[in-house]
Amino acid sequence: MKFDLKVNGTLHTVDVTGDMPVLWILRDILHLTGTKYGCGVAQCGACTVHVDGQPVRSCLLTVQSAAGRDITTIEAINQTEAGARVQQAWLDEEVIQCGYCQSGQIMTATALLQKTPHPSDAEIDDAMAGNICRCGTYVRIRKAIHKAASHDV
Ligand code: FES
Ligand code: FES
Repeated sequence: MKFDLKVNGTLHTVDVTGDMPVLWILRDILHLTGTKYGCGVAQCGACTVHVDGQPVRSCLLTVQSAAGRDITTIEAINQTEAGARVQQAWLDEEVIQCGYCQSGQIMTATALLQKTPHPSDAEIDDAMAGNICRCGTYVRIRKAIHKAASHDV
């Protein structure tokens, strides 16, 4: 079946079954491999994308429910004002260790700042709780979010 998916501002028509997760389409069909597969069951956050501006786990998002909505991936998040600040703060604070979880971390952090421009530690912890980092970069993530929020980047 054919579905129209708008990804990073470009419309793509894909011919797949309706229950295919958007993560597979991004990675295997559109070759946008910045979005990662971690758990496949919405428990780690590695696959986070924005759908109509909200952070969503693309491993459980079906193509039929995403059709016609605005999807943004890590490849285009720097085109948003908050996303560019978050990415710069990540670099400045040298947040990344192995890197595997970090696309999802950046997508969730950007969504947080778009909704809450100056989050408290508790609001950061609450928003980021679903994004797991096996390297334990949580302290640097929090610092980078505060830095991005302060516009000091
Ligand atoms: S791969 Fe989607 S939340 Fe883990
Ligand atoms: S940087 Fe390695 S899992 Fe987060």
